[in-house]
Amino acid sequence: MLTRVPKGTFDVLPGEVEKWQFLEETARRLCRDYGYRELRTPIFEHTELFLRGVGDTTDVVEKEMYTFQDKGGRSISLRPEGTAPAARAYLEHGLHAGPQPVKVFYIGPMFRYANVQAGRYRQFHQFGIEVFGSGDPLVDAEVVAMAMEYYRRLRLRDMELHINSVGCPHCRPVHREKLLEFLRERLEQLCADCRSRVHRNPLRVLDCKEEECRRVTEGAPTTLDYLCSECRLHFEQTLSYLDEVGVQYVVDGRLVRGLDYYTRTAFEIMMPEIGAQSSIGGGGRYDGLVAQLGGPAVPGIGFAIGLERVLAALEKQGAVLPGRESLQVFVAVVGEEARRTGFKIVQELRSRGVSADLDTQNRSLKAQMKYANRLQAAMVAIIGEEELKRGIIQLRDMESGQQHEVKIEELYSAVAKRGR
Ligand code: HAM
Repeated sequence: MLTRVPKGTFDVLPGEVEKWQFLEETARRLCRDYGYRELRTPIFEHTELFLRGVGDTTDVVEKEMYTFQDKGGRSISLRPEGTAPAARAYLEHGLHAGPQPVKVFYIGPMFRYANVQAGRYRQFHQFGIEVFGSGDPLVDAEVVAMAMEYYRRLRLRDMELHINSVGCPHCRPVHREKLLEFLRERLEQLCADCRSRVHRNPLRVLDCKEEECRRVTEGAPTTLDYLCSECRLHFEQTLSYLDEVGVQYVVDGRLVRGLDYYTRTAFEIMMPEIGAQSSIGGGGRYDGLVAQLGGPAVPGIGFAIGLERVLAALEKQGAVLPGRESLQVFVAVVGEEARRTGFKIVQELRSRGVSADLDTQNRSLKAQMKYANRLQAAMVAIIGEEELKRGIIQLRDMESGQQHEVKIEELYSAVAKRGR
């Protein structure tokens, strides 16, 4: 126990962490290019936020939340997602009073007590964006295109974008009635969970992962069949804007997202190659969320991308991802006096932005050279008694194996000349 991480979590060790930094840096650059600014919200929130925001009949809230009482008797939950917290922050800080739209992004851990399997973790990481204050279908297209652009920048291939419209409070009740009718006739064939949900939230039944429920609900009426004229127009315009910028999609009337706040556009990006947990990102519009949390009627839309799954997909496709950055200079020393000089030199190099290191294990010169090799040092600066006396350093280029003398005071320019 003491030496194991909790189930569904993992460490990211040096060597692996560079890949994560690459995913994160690519996300940050993308957000800069699209005009999104970072929002950091707490890892935990009042449970009520998710009950109201995400919906208390969703699996995420009903079954998967890490909820506990704090010492003050408040019900607190680790955030299972980032949209409700972003909407809370938007309201709490009165961002709706400023210029709209407000465009934010976040990168960070989310927590869901889910059945652990390949691609499904209990602590996982999302890169997400949210736009508040615009109901324009152009924004829908921009948000979808931005998700696709992220994958493109990472050089992922073969993603499938599925898109749907789940309607609005005007047209949804009509669909709900039709769906209820359909489900009532098949009630006995549904799983216990679905039976209990039919009346509370029939749309959730279409999202059930049980094989039998999926089969039974094949041919169920979809939201697309019952869109009101405004929602239909919004959907058509969204698709036509996507056509405009060459984003390919599959219209999928069965696409139901796992969270309840969605209105109109809902989308998911799949990568069947990575197995059963093939959704590498998803999102949609949530025009009722801010009002649901007690604020004004402000439209919103966003997406979140699961970084573990993106990384798995990249690795599956054989992408070459960044590894450890090599060291520029390793200073090898012989004797205490040289060690002191070596310490001063590495400090000086580092202060000039050159990555440098030296031995702290009292290794022999030979062992220090071997270690420098393991660090993939570009150069080794060797200082022994003889060098100290003459005020010089032996500088070895590890790639070519060539070695020459440089004066201590000229070391920096010699290193700078070699570059990285
Ligand atoms: P979501 O579909 O629940 O949406 O999650 C988005 C992505 O997070 C998924 O497509 C998947 O890649 C990843 N993910 C979800 N659960 C897990 C898990 N247990 N292990 C590993 N990866 C996981 C949302 O969270 C919404 N907040 C997205 C959104 C933003 N909608 C509007 N704005």
